[in-house]
Amino acid sequence: MAKKLRVGLIGLGSICQGGHIPGWLAADGCEIVAGADPSSGARESTQRRAGLGADLLFEDYSQMLAQVELDVVDICTPQKLHVKPALDAFKAGCHVLVEKPMATSSADVRKMIAAAQAADRLLMVGQSMRFTQEHLALKRWVDAGLVGEVYWGRASWLRSRGVPVRPSFLLSQFSAGGPTYDIGVHVLDLSLWLMGHPEPVSVSANTWLKIANRPSLMKHDPKMYELPEDLAVAFIRFANGACLSLEASWALNSPELDTWSVMLAGTEGGIVNNPPTLVREEAGMLTNTYTQVNPDAGIASHTAQIVAFAEAIRKGLPSPVPGEQALFTQRILDGVYKSARQGREVKV
Ligand SMILES: NC(=O)c1ccc[n+]([C@@H]2O[C@H](COP(=O)([O-])OP(=O)(O)OC[C@H]3O[C@@H](n4cnc5c(N)ncnc54)[C@H](O)[C@@H]3O)[C@@H](O)[C@H]2O)c1
Repeated sequence: MAKKLRVGLIGLGSICQGGHIPGWLAADGCEIVAGADPSSGARESTQRRAGLGADLLFEDYSQMLAQVELDVVDICTPQKLHVKPALDAFKAGCHVLVEKPMATSSADVRKMIAAAQAADRLLMVGQSMRFTQEHLALKRWVDAGLVGEVYWGRASWLRSRGVPVRPSFLLSQFSAGGPTYDIGVHVLDLSLWLMGHPEPVSVSANTWLKIANRPSLMKHDPKMYELPEDLAVAFIRFANGACLSLEASWALNSPELDTWSVMLAGTEGGIVNNPPTLVREEAGMLTNTYTQVNPDAGIASHTAQIVAFAEAIRKGLPSPVPGEQALFTQRILDGVYKSARQGREVKV
């Protein structure tokens, strides 16, 4: 029997507790052997959920890397704190799974890719939404050629009243942006993946902070937190002539509380995610085809991404979500804020 992959967790907050710990516990041939987080509450919670002794839970992740033999490091720290632990984990000879967004600048994404290459280890970005049954169904339609040449897409995640309350999303020392970085990155990544990662060329975008700080909407304390934006809208051009519209909000006077969608228009058909639908002409009629994927029959997306990562490590396969793909996403994110600042279309 092959040796189990020894996993160390860095950042033991909400997504680690709810998504990553259950994922590693469910994945065959893997064991969580250590964790690190400055928060004692997060460490205690991990002690209970992952069954770790207190001596294997560290305040400082460097102690964990120095003292515990690890094959994999899984990073779930706030977005601006992904880079340093990833570089240190590669130096320690580990494979790295890092939560989305991979980093907060293209320069940092490039550093992480270079470190993975230098260490000859796998780097995977936690774009967990690629691993739902619904999105895998959309990908199968695209890969089967049923959509043809995709020339336009729309990626949207709009929350009418959904400003997060955790400091990791609302303090500039932890996060580089608002809904664009939090939820926009999910639908952007999904769209780029389904489009086959065309080369991005330019972005024209605007961001607004109009209503999220109103006392009637706020769950956060405006004296403590400075929101970057509550709405971002962007238009992205690709070298192959395709374009993508992107929109993301935490607070908006829109009819639905929380709704997200990905739609692609192609020469042979169109796809949309909810429910997973293929639209195309059949027997002279424009026809909607729905798949019968049962979301409950699949494993949770975080578990599925962890299973895929562990399999890639064991079998020497490419990373299921490589840093090179996240670089496309990051170049666009950089472009969104630059374009909004400059009030014009910018090259990415
Ligand atoms: N894929 C998804 O569906 C999904 C969902 C939620 C969050 N996320 C991503 O996961 C990451 C974490 O988000 P969260 O919601 O769990 O935030 P969180 O605030 O609940 O947890 C972050 C944790 O990191 C810890 N931390 C801070 N600095 C640290 C350091 N130097 N070393 C170790 N730990 C440190 C904090 O103490 C906290 O426990 C973010 O990048 C976020 O975008 C992804």
